[in-house]
Amino acid sequence: MSITILGIESSCDDTSASIVKDGVLLSNVTANQDVHKKYGGVVPELASRAHQQNIVPVVDLAIKNAGVEINNISAIAFTQSPGLLGSLLVGTSFSKGFALSLNIPLIAINHLYAHVLVHFMQEKDKQNKIPEFPFLCLLISGGHTQILIVNSYNNMEIIGNTIDDAAGEAFDKCGKVMGLDYPAGPIIDNLAKQGNTTAFKFAKPRIANLDFSFSGLKTSFLYSIRDNIINNPDFITQNMNDLCASLQNTIVEILIDKIKTAVKQTNIKRIAISGGVSANSHLRTILTNESIKNNWEVFIPEIKYTTDNAAMVAISGYYKYLAGDFSNLEVTASARIK
Ligand code: KG4
Ligand code: ZN
Repeated sequence: MSITILGIESSCDDTSASIVKDGVLLSNVTANQDVHKKYGGVVPELASRAHQQNIVPVVDLAIKNAGVEINNISAIAFTQSPGLLGSLLVGTSFSKGFALSLNIPLIAINHLYAHVLVHFMQEKDKQNKIPEFPFLCLLISGGHTQILIVNSYNNMEIIGNTIDDAAGEAFDKCGKVMGLDYPAGPIIDNLAKQGNTTAFKFAKPRIANLDFSFSGLKTSFLYSIRDNIINNPDFITQNMNDLCASLQNTIVEILIDKIKTAVKQTNIKRIAISGGVSANSHLRTILTNESIKNNWEVFIPEIKYTTDNAAMVAISGYYKYLAGDFSNLEVTASARIK
């Protein structure tokens, strides 16, 4: 009998639904929320309202695009934590109601694990390279920066974590200082292509273990701009590309240094990256170069699966279904991982 999973993601500002059948992706529909752009970040109240508007049409389209019958859905997997509580509640409540009406099981998904399991995505008529266990995963998003040892689909050990800002936050907050829209990461990536990576020098953290810190870099970036603007009010516009390239290069160096330390400590040479920041073109190039130099096997997700999407939730749901790991109807959303 085949297993068809409906995945639902609503942890931040993207409403997404996906169908995975027997581990193969059939559809993935995402509604982005442009409403946050002008505020320089996600406004939780507006995000919840937009999820509320988007969720029914997004789920409807995902089911239609997959060409499956509603009655053939085996279970609903939804992002239960972590994220913005109001946003998570929309997906959770919808999933509960839908599962109840179809009389099918519910599967609660940890958003961070879902980002990792995106590497197990199988697509029709496509041969994706899948990592063997154990592997290291550098999970870099707007809210998290972690290094995990992935032992199996449901056994992951966090060996490094951010002690302040996440890598994506460093991009977004420095972008805001330069007057860029939210999310600034992809804009900086683009502008950096025309810039010089060594034009400016910013502070790098000195943390011996596998933890990350980006707040010092953010402050150093802010002070550098503030000092330069005193003499030249047009400093930002005149140096935009170089500022972006130097900032991006510093963030990428911090990430690559940690990967090197993690490989040394664990002796694991299979390395995956995931989360929104893994879309960064400079990181992807440097990681590929380092993998050749150090004989690492690297796994870089397709750009469309780096930022939040329900395909990763549905694939995670598929593996939890196989393990018989279901939730009851009392399950609640949680802003933090419990
Ligand atoms: O994984 P994600 O979609 O959401 C969270 O779970 O947080 O990640 C969003 C983050 C944002 O901070 C955004 O600026 C960053 O990913 N991002 C990038 C790029 N594309 C998205 N950062 C650097 N370069 C990119 N190309
Ligand atoms: Zn995410």
